[in-house]
Amino acid sequence: MEILRKMKNSLVLIGLLGFIGSCFALECYVCLGQRTNKDKCIKTTIQCEQEQDACKTQIRWQQPRFWQRVSERYHNISKSCETKARCDAEAAAKGFKCMRDWYRDWDCVECCQGDRCNYYATLGGSQTQLSFLLLTIVLISQALHHYLR
Ligand SMILES: *[C@@H]1O[C@H](CO)[C@@H](O)[C@H](O)[C@H]1NC(C)=O
Repeated sequence: MEILRKMKNSLVLIGLLGFIGSCFALECYVCLGQRTNKDKCIKTTIQCEQEQDACKTQIRWQQPRFWQRVSERYHNISKSCETKARCDAEAAAKGFKCMRDWYRDWDCVECCQGDRCNYYATLGGSQTQLSFLLLTIVLISQALHHYLR
């Protein structure tokens, strides 16, 4: 019984700390229309408004303007503060446009909660090809290793 009471006390304490913590504003990375998840997108943070309880990352994989060559798609990354509800709604609405294929345009929204939680962005696209290649190499070399013993 004694141990139960101690557990209950520490749960109350944890809850209290969480409550106090939630009074401080969330901190998110911010950037607008960057081509890489470097420099601005991982160096600039802001304090969110009180009601903004989530960090949002929007990643687009898009074709360049018409005077450039069509084949060279690039990432367009934006990060900001948002309410969890609005961010989730936007992510859901974008769902069908979020394919992360390298050969067509896509538009993804990611939401997360926690200070500076939007550091990483899931880029897909060209990286997907590379990791697919690496995976294939690993699988083939494992198969070779297995059969050539
Ligand atoms: C990047 O995306 C933002 C919206 O997320 C858009 O306003 C901006 O025009 C885009 N930038 C380019 C270069 O297309």
